[in-house]
Amino acid sequence: MNFSLSEEHLMIRQAARDFAQNDCKPGVIERDTNMKWPAEQVKKMAELGFLGMMVSPEYGGGGMDTLSYVIAMEEISKVDASCSVLMSVNNSLVCWGLEEFGTEEQKRKYLVPLAKGEKIGAFCLSEPEAGSDATSQSTIAIDMGDHYLLNGTKNWITNGGCASTYLVIAQTDVTKGHKGINVLIVEKGMPGFTVGKKEDKLGIRASDTHTLMFSDVKVPKENRIGEDGFGFKFAMKTLSGGRIGIAAQALGIAAGAYELAVDYSKQRKAFKKEIINHQAVAFKLADMATEIEAARLLVYKAARLKDAGKNYDQASAMAKVFASETAMKHTVEAVQIHGGYGYVKEYHVERLMRDAKITQIYEGTSEVQRIVISRGVLS
Ligand code: CAA
Repeated sequence: MNFSLSEEHLMIRQAARDFAQNDCKPGVIERDTNMKWPAEQVKKMAELGFLGMMVSPEYGGGGMDTLSYVIAMEEISKVDASCSVLMSVNNSLVCWGLEEFGTEEQKRKYLVPLAKGEKIGAFCLSEPEAGSDATSQSTIAIDMGDHYLLNGTKNWITNGGCASTYLVIAQTDVTKGHKGINVLIVEKGMPGFTVGKKEDKLGIRASDTHTLMFSDVKVPKENRIGEDGFGFKFAMKTLSGGRIGIAAQALGIAAGAYELAVDYSKQRKAFKKEIINHQAVAFKLADMATEIEAARLLVYKAARLKDAGKNYDQASAMAKVFASETAMKHTVEAVQIHGGYGYVKEYHVERLMRDAKITQIYEGTSEVQRIVISRGVLS
């Protein structure tokens, strides 16, 4: 598999790096502390084309490949994982699903503004009683002929408050199990749809995570994506690609912590020499460098498989589980290398450590990724 980056990939990396350093880094601690939605950064991401990177130009996107997307995700996640998660959800969970499975009318009406970043999207699968066991949907959409009547609650929805377009997974026929699940496009402002409480989270605190309530929301039939009963497969296919984005986010968090740890180790002196010259620190950095590179190769492989039109279900699960566990392990090590400085906000690594944890949970826990991988092994 060829991992050499083209001139275009290198330019995208530089643009994402500049954006992260110039636009995300200032104020990142304050936004994290105050759970402040990064409105200015979202505007800039839209201008740079980061919110619809892989969408065809015909629908307002950048027409780029998945490798370009993961390269940009890595760079932005090094600095601000709250910005990168909103970018990931908009690109891979919302725009991708709409472009791949939506009707021409749905694409014109919903995809174009999302790809241009004029509007933000949210993907609504998780419920109070349906997380890993995603087939156990309690949100019900009753077929009323020309519309569905939607009732239920969704939890922990990224972009929940700031989104305008919501892809809502709901059970339409309980007798059919997962084959009775549909995905409906719900617009903010539809009567009966309420945005509930904003979550006060451990990490990615500037991202906008909400509970959503649906009470007798009338959703027109033309807002269903795909054939009747396609909703669960839609969710699984979409999440397979989404996991590549989250793997890239985890990679970026790990790489960001590593870069900070290297810089700090070159400056900080203890026992009359820079701590990088102590083997106890140098070996930690060596392990970080090795495992981060391995994570990067898995992320690039999954992206390349997707770009080549091959099956990437297992590869994306492998990339996510490995990159997220690498992020958790090595952000803890980066804090350790920084000692007392690592434990305070000013040095950024404590935030990266808190941000890393969610990458082992959302878009499928590490345990769910192991289910997907082991099923591939057993088949
Ligand atoms: N592509 C296409 N179809 C798929 C598929 C895929 N990747 N994976 C499963 N399917 C199909 C199966 O073929 C099966 O269809 P048939 O009956 O026609 O053969 C159907 O879906 C059911 O599949 P399973 O029997 O494998 O389903 P399961 O109940 O055993 O669940 C699971 C499998 C992998 C655990 C799945 O439930 C899962 O991925 N759970 C985690 C959900 C998740 O990731 N939630 C995250 C929430 S979203 C989020 O976090 C977004 C955010 O805001 C950041």
